[in-house]
Amino acid sequence: MNPETLLDILHRNAIPIPWSEGDNIPWNEPEFSKRMLKEHLTQDHDLASRRSEKIDLHVQFIHQDVLTGQPGHLLDLACGPGLYASRLAKLGHTIHGIDYSPASIAYAQKTTRTENLASTYQHADIRTTEYGDGYDAALLIYGEFNVFKPADIRQIVRKIHAALKPGGKLITEPHTFEAIEGIGKHSTSWFTSEEGLFSPKPHLVLTENFWDETQKTATIRHFVVDATTGNVIRYAQSLQAYTPAAYRKLLTECGFREIQFYPALTGNPDPEQASLLAITAVKA
Ligand SMILES: C[S@@+](CC[C@H](N)C(=O)[O-])C[C@H]1O[C@@H](n2cnc3c(N)ncnc32)[C@H](O)[C@@H]1O
Repeated sequence: MNPETLLDILHRNAIPIPWSEGDNIPWNEPEFSKRMLKEHLTQDHDLASRRSEKIDLHVQFIHQDVLTGQPGHLLDLACGPGLYASRLAKLGHTIHGIDYSPASIAYAQKTTRTENLASTYQHADIRTTEYGDGYDAALLIYGEFNVFKPADIRQIVRKIHAALKPGGKLITEPHTFEAIEGIGKHSTSWFTSEEGLFSPKPHLVLTENFWDETQKTATIRHFVVDATTGNVIRYAQSLQAYTPAAYRKLLTECGFREIQFYPALTGNPDPEQASLLAITAVKA
């Protein structure tokens, strides 16, 4: 990404068009992905992946309640460092994970080798890659459903449908409508850091949030200012809000039936994860 200047901040669009200034934080940049891997693995917070205790509860719900304890062939889209996939493999599933973060995929592959698990991983963008087929279930969790443009998520859900066996299940964990609206209406903020996720050098991060009432999208725009050079890097990310009826409509139009909603990926209300819900759907 080409550095911008402080003048570019001054001359920015007052209100960005959703997805026009970027579609996500740079999970797929090699150095960023190494820094992000630490955030996935830390037990201090739940920002990139949930802490182990919570993942164990989610995996128990997926394995026991959704998949009725039957080992199967699973697909984990946007799998990160394979924290769910490796646990599911230990329960007897074979699992294929896809993610475009190089450091996360390398970590997941190392775990597979050292723990001798029945899991494979692919470093790829789930918008453009093929998924294979013959899966009993597919996961797309931790809010990633909402970060894709509506046309892209529709295409992803159609590809999931094609990759599943008849009777196969989609397990997804999107944001609630209210959570996305809340992100969009969050006030402008800034912080400084000697080193952090956005840069290994002293820097300033300026963050603006926007809610687009017409398109029902939140956009978050970060300007990362290098404190030494004044160079600026811009990252932007948009999230699409859906009501439960809109989730149901999209999944139905992509060929899914028996759509069930849960308050969280544990199957029960989880006040720590109130911004997310879980949905399961069956390929007819
Ligand atoms: C919030 S993390 C969740 C990771 C994992 N599912 C978990 O819960 O531990 C989101 C993941 O989505 C991945 N991701 C985002 N957009 C992607 C894309 N277009 N293709 C592949 N991976 C993507 C990121 O690299 C990151 O690993």
